Amino acid sequence: MRLAGSIHCSFAAVLLCIAACDAGVSHAAKPASAPTPAPVPKNARYKDASQPVEARVEDLLARMTLAEKIGQMTQAERAEARPGDVTALMLGSVLSGGGSGPSPNKPESWASMIDAYQDAATATRLGIPVIYGIDAVHGHQSVIGATVFPQMIGLAAAGDADLMKRIGEVTAREMAATGIYWNFSPMVAVTQDIRWGRAAESLGEDAATVGTLATAYVGGLMAPIAPDSAQILPTAKHFIGDGGTAWGSSRQSIMGVQYRLDQGDAQGDSEALLARYLPPYKALIDAGTGSVMASFSSWNGDKLHGNNALLTGVLKERLGFKGFVISDWDGIQQLPGSFEQQVTTAINAGVDMAMVPKDYRAFVRVLTDAVNKGSVPQARIDDAVRRILRAKFAMGLFEHPRALRSLQAEFGGAAHRAVAREAVAKSATLLKNAGALPLARGKSIFVAGEFADNLGFQSGGWTLQWQGVSGNGEIAGTTLLEGIKQVGGATTAVSFKEDGKLDGRADVGIVFVGEPPYAEGVGDRDIDELALDRREVSAIDAMRSRVDKLVLVVVAGRPQLLDKVIDKVDAVVMAWLPGSEGAGLADVLLGDKPFTGRLPVGWPASAAGYQRADAPLDMRCTSLVWALGDGMDVSGKALGPGRCTR
Ligand code: BGC
Ligand code: BGC
Repeated sequence: MRLAGSIHCSFAAVLLCIAACDAGVSHAAKPASAPTPAPVPKNARYKDASQPVEARVEDLLARMTLAEKIGQMTQAERAEARPGDVTALMLGSVLSGGGSGPSPNKPESWASMIDAYQDAATATRLGIPVIYGIDAVHGHQSVIGATVFPQMIGLAAAGDADLMKRIGEVTAREMAATGIYWNFSPMVAVTQDIRWGRAAESLGEDAATVGTLATAYVGGLMAPIAPDSAQILPTAKHFIGDGGTAWGSSRQSIMGVQYRLDQGDAQGDSEALLARYLPPYKALIDAGTGSVMASFSSWNGDKLHGNNALLTGVLKERLGFKGFVISDWDGIQQLPGSFEQQVTTAINAGVDMAMVPKDYRAFVRVLTDAVNKGSVPQARIDDAVRRILRAKFAMGLFEHPRALRSLQAEFGGAAHRAVAREAVAKSATLLKNAGALPLARGKSIFVAGEFADNLGFQSGGWTLQWQGVSGNGEIAGTTLLEGIKQVGGATTAVSFKEDGKLDGRADVGIVFVGEPPYAEGVGDRDIDELALDRREVSAIDAMRSRVDKLVLVVVAGRPQLLDKVIDKVDAVVMAWLPGSEGAGLADVLLGDKPFTGRLPVGWPASAAGYQRADAPLDMRCTSLVWALGDGMDVSGKALGPGRCTR
């Protein structure tokens, strides 16, 4: 079988034909020495979109100098590398770190910025397009005006594969409008510990759900965007074992915060760990995911970035992954030794492209030396570059490297926001209801809490800034409070005061509590730190004495400890971190839509006796107030069996 000429072939199809192409177009005999740069003919085979991907890869690779190859393996940060650096070093990739973007932050400025990198890349001898990467982890949420979807944990509660696919499609379209075709998403950690600061970015504690939903999402990300568009390259991250690290095992400290779980150590029998954490990777690779990001974390004491047995042995050999491995942000520099030793170890372990935001020049220099000395084999370089080029060809980037400006008209538009609103409604998880919900129109509602009217807070980490933002200034959307007013309509009298000390009485009160935004290990919390704070408890008390029915809404990326307040409220709704479309929550609170959310992680009853998801089941179940899979409709009927349902 030969690969059909279409450039819109899926990555999966490309992988299928690799074996066949291997037999036909042999690359076994490639010389290891650097070919002399020569002008490239216009009709070079790699430029011909009708040629099979593998043939294009081999043709191009054979023309490349060592410098061009190492350039492909290098990823710099946009604030550190100018377009001229892309030309000079022939860089393969540029990224935006969290919150790093052009000013003004508008789709059009993103498109111009990235097209400038693209022009700089295509100006090189071989004209290999640069691949620009970003964390579009809950929509394209680095860009002002984007549709901000619920964080992944909420989408896991929704548990709707078709919805995941549509979210992937919308995200892809908003990315392409800005010229970005590489998404560092989905994160497929199987979260064992809600104390982890990245639990919100995850699809929960159940590996099968993680795999199914991430696969559907990737299907949407990779769906054809337009006839003249490249396809999005998704990233399965962080390989492997993040989400299951041991408490206190992290050595990282950023912004004065000592990490406790994030970037820590996954401990236990290796095959048992793989049985838990590998299945989502297998699912995503089978679905054609072309890049995998290495984890900052360690595996029984060994940093993943230097772990040949896992990156090469398990990922590339056992799973047959033919895409490329990207290192995480300065992750190579966390290995022991000098920078040269770190680079040598990482590349020999199987890292194909290095995320070296600031250190890209040094990386190029040091890797070149290492190859010249023979400490990194030429064959390893060729393998890495093959993988990167394969992804670039398969996604159609050579033919369609530029921003799809025609899509800017629909950026953050009504059709996209409708999908997000649906996701908010479907993710809302009802955990308790003593006759408080649904709210009837025509009644009076008191609203309290600092999470009621704050788009930054309801969107969480990675939104506009790495650690998220506070307030309604920059995110286009509807707050949860505005949503209630909108959906409640003119007949519903809604009054809001943050501390709940409103004048008079109302039929219903809603208190919004939660966690201010954070990202990564900055959000690692000990279990007792997940309790409501004093102001939240006092808002609940203030409201309790003023209303007939009291609803507690939690706006957070993970369960919060409710043992001190649960008996004071008539209903509990977990809203997760819903993102920009707050009206979606009102849709379920007011009964226009049914509650369908079910917990993707167990909910601890209290700080005492906390158990991780990987604790023995009976111990775990005893420690929870609600388990994986719990959630009900307004009549109190369970929506399905929970993990601890007898
Ligand atoms: C995170 C990754 C992210 C990368 C680029 C790292 O700190 O661990 O998940 O993709 O930064 O922003
Ligand atoms: C970047 C993130 C990155 C983090 C790691 C931040 O400055 O914006 O993308 O994950 O640093 O330290």
